[in-house]
Amino acid sequence: MNFPEYRPRRLRQSDGFRRMIRETRLSVDNLVLPLFVIEGKNIKNEIAAMPGHYQLSIDNLLNTGKEAFELGIPAVILFGIPDKKDSIASNAHIKDGIVQRAVRALKDKIPELVVITDVCLCQYTDHGHCGVIKENIIDNDESLFVIAKTALSHAEAGADMVAPSDMMDGRVGKIREFLDKNSFTNTAIMSYAVKYCSAYYGPFRQAADSSPKFGDRKTYQMDPSNAIEAIREADLDVYEGADIIMVKPALAYLDIIYRVHQEINLPIAAYSVSGEYSMIKAGEKMGWIDGKRIMMETLTAIKRAGANIILTYFAMEAAKVLRDESQ
Ligand code: PBG
Ligand code: ZN
Repeated sequence: MNFPEYRPRRLRQSDGFRRMIRETRLSVDNLVLPLFVIEGKNIKNEIAAMPGHYQLSIDNLLNTGKEAFELGIPAVILFGIPDKKDSIASNAHIKDGIVQRAVRALKDKIPELVVITDVCLCQYTDHGHCGVIKENIIDNDESLFVIAKTALSHAEAGADMVAPSDMMDGRVGKIREFLDKNSFTNTAIMSYAVKYCSAYYGPFRQAADSSPKFGDRKTYQMDPSNAIEAIREADLDVYEGADIIMVKPALAYLDIIYRVHQEINLPIAAYSVSGEYSMIKAGEKMGWIDGKRIMMETLTAIKRAGANIILTYFAMEAAKVLRDESQ
């Protein structure tokens, strides 16, 4: 069939037609809200490059968690900002660490909210790297032990799912081993399996105070030029026991999300990172773009590429748009 018999515009002529043939629908069920939690009481420090996002003390975190849950957002992912750092990330895996207490408080107040924890060492090390350092290199196998211990401490606090973001080789297997040995067979692992060494993380590092104090993350995070390697990384984590495979960042890596979705038969998550949020917020503030429409278009594109779970700083705003549309 060809023009003039076939005219694609026929099916675009009214809202009813467009609704009937719509292929991708964003739902609040797809959204995960990232939250930053800090020591102290009644703290709500706005993050300069991320308007609408804050470093929250646990009391305020509970209010935001409640608001998210009431909007229908199924899950939050927590990032801790501890008040003490050292070379071996001691505070990452203590029972009364900031994340561990935040998890307990959230699960106590809002038990049905899925609580995911980011598992990494960079917020807890004085050098700001995601692993521990031995003889000036980020030592893979030494780091595994600390990372798995951290994940276990989150599970003990009640986390439903742990999400390792360190990019050390073998950490999913080590975490699964630690969890299972301690009877946390039901704690899920969402692996940041395909995580690129990206400048889009800039605003996050201000928010979490997690910039490396020397060097960069190129020896552990992936080279943005590589695509085939993404499948190798994802395969490894599948074999090691990951339940969900994540690609990060999202917007500049839609091709990677698509490939991973085609090749891997696990649920796929995509992390629309801080820089993606900041760019849209900045453009909106300048009056140059329609922030709300760009938000919805971007999230729909990430889902269309193959991600069923989207971690996004827009979760709350998008949930409100979706709610209002359905009324
Ligand atoms: C920690 C971590 C980072 C992000 C999530 N977990 C930063 C990094 O790797 O430097 C980035 C999230 C964002 O930019 O929104 N390893
Ligand atoms: Zn890290």
